[in-house]
Amino acid sequence: MPKFILDGIEIKFTQGQTIIEAAKAHGIDIPHFCWHPSLSVSGNCRMCLVEVEKMPKLVIACSTLASEGMVVHSQSQKTIEARNAVMEFFLINHPLDCPICDEAGECKLQDYAYQHSKGESRFIDEKNHKDKRVPLGPFVMFDAERCISCSRCIRFCDEIAKDPELTFIKRGDRVTIVTYPGEELDNPYSLNTTDICPVGALTNRDFRFQARVWDMSATKSICFGCSRGCNSEIWVRNNEVLRITPRYNEEVNSYWMCDYGRVNT
Ligand code: SF4
Ligand code: SF4
Ligand code: FES
Repeated sequence: MPKFILDGIEIKFTQGQTIIEAAKAHGIDIPHFCWHPSLSVSGNCRMCLVEVEKMPKLVIACSTLASEGMVVHSQSQKTIEARNAVMEFFLINHPLDCPICDEAGECKLQDYAYQHSKGESRFIDEKNHKDKRVPLGPFVMFDAERCISCSRCIRFCDEIAKDPELTFIKRGDRVTIVTYPGEELDNPYSLNTTDICPVGALTNRDFRFQARVWDMSATKSICFGCSRGCNSEIWVRNNEVLRITPRYNEEVNSYWMCDYGRVNT
């Protein structure tokens, strides 16, 4: 089996695996926002930049194929500086309303902000404001200010739900997500977008403002909505079920479950 070196550790990989995939298979998580193991690679967030010896520039680990003998650094000074810069860029216009954000406690942006930010902004101008409550469909609410334009939700609808409903409009710091004209985000799997949104931009309308995630307990379960039996987690606070989320099982439901199973069981 071919091998490469990541931060001094020998990583075996199969031909065609990217650096981020091979690292994940080895239990190493390279920071990322837009990459998701079950979606196509969009390579837009740049959070996964790593240094590869003999390559002139940093490369993104989510789209760079692993190759025999490659020496990769994900913790070098150059890499950390790049990651800090990416985070600073993301936070220029981000509202950082974590105290009222449902994603707080399970937010990639919040976690990485602790690890890769200075704790203060050099940006002194008014932040760019966008709509904070846009119902995209019966179950999903969109907060445009929190969106980091990773496109995971768009790719999920296109590739997994097979129902293209979402797209970007505008450019630069005005870019935002909308449904196509005449469309709603109402495919039978729409709530999975709230799970894979790495920030609190897409939230479950049923669960919004119901609880802080750290106040709930999660119990492994199986959905009884149909014979597929999707693996799930039931989130409870004070003996009250507040939300149901999918639990990864490649043999049964991968990372997903349907809205019926979450809402009606
Ligand atoms: S999306 Fe994350 S970083 Fe942004 S307000 Fe919500 S918890 Fe905070
Ligand atoms: S809404 Fe969430 S998943 Fe969709 S592009 Fe924005 S940050 Fe990414
Ligand atoms: S995770 Fe690689 S560019 Fe976003």
